[in-house]
Amino acid sequence: MFVVGSGGVHLVDELRSLGANFIDVEIKRFPDGEKYVRIAGSGERAIVLSSTFYPQDEKIIELLLLGDALRERGFEYLRLVVPYFAYSRQDRVTKEGEPISVRAIMRTLGLYYDELYVFDIHNPETLRYFPGKAVNLSPAKAIGNYFKEKLENGVILAPDHGALGRAKAVAEFLGLEYSHFEKRRVSPTEVKMYPVDVNVRGRDVLIVDDIISTGGTMIKAASLLKKLGAEKIYVSATHGVFSEGAIERISKAVEEIAVTNTIPTPVSKISIVPEIMKLEASHIV
Ligand code: R5P
Repeated sequence: MFVVGSGGVHLVDELRSLGANFIDVEIKRFPDGEKYVRIAGSGERAIVLSSTFYPQDEKIIELLLLGDALRERGFEYLRLVVPYFAYSRQDRVTKEGEPISVRAIMRTLGLYYDELYVFDIHNPETLRYFPGKAVNLSPAKAIGNYFKEKLENGVILAPDHGALGRAKAVAEFLGLEYSHFEKRRVSPTEVKMYPVDVNVRGRDVLIVDDIISTGGTMIKAASLLKKLGAEKIYVSATHGVFSEGAIERISKAVEEIAVTNTIPTPVSKISIVPEIMKLEASHIV
């Protein structure tokens, strides 16, 4: 049974069409701006679903309130599914005095939830901060399925070496070649990107990343690929955290952009809902 927070509402119709069951929940706001939640059902186990996109702080508070309400109502085992996990990029101290924000959020959610499932979190190592079982799900097959008709003799590229595993997973699913871009500093202010060990001339290319934010990374990679003679350039990512104007800027630079629906956007064309449904079917220990 799913309990859906406001960051999961966009997934409900598809979940329902696949046969998901829901526990009714009331979510509203007090006049002073504070959140109010109320669980209208009962049971022993539940799956709480909410992606923590903007306004992310509000959605995190809601998850704490839902966890507390479910425990209060007598639920014994709670599985939490957070397709896009906010603060995941703040995974280290870069200036003295900063927090490891992702750790703070994971530890706090761990007060209420037994299991955590996320999709393609920025740094999978951060899952160790969650006190219970924590699983990083991959959208590689869903992304591969979406692009498979468009990529005959194509190549899959990651924008940097750190993202290579992501490109590899999509490429292996499609039986295609994969590689990554390398960044080389050519002056104190200029960094050059170039694709490693792969010839893109005359080939269609899909660039895959975890997050697209400003689109700067993708636009730079696409313009380079064009100079190197690539044919059609497609871009994809798990999370479309698009800043103002990013979709338009990227759309002008590439053949097509498609991301998953961990965050609802006009280009969230690839669904992770079938993966979420598997979590309802799988036994909660
Ligand atoms: C960075 O570490 C992430 O993996 C993405 O490459 C980054 O968030 C993309 O940002 P932007 O779209 O602003 O270039």
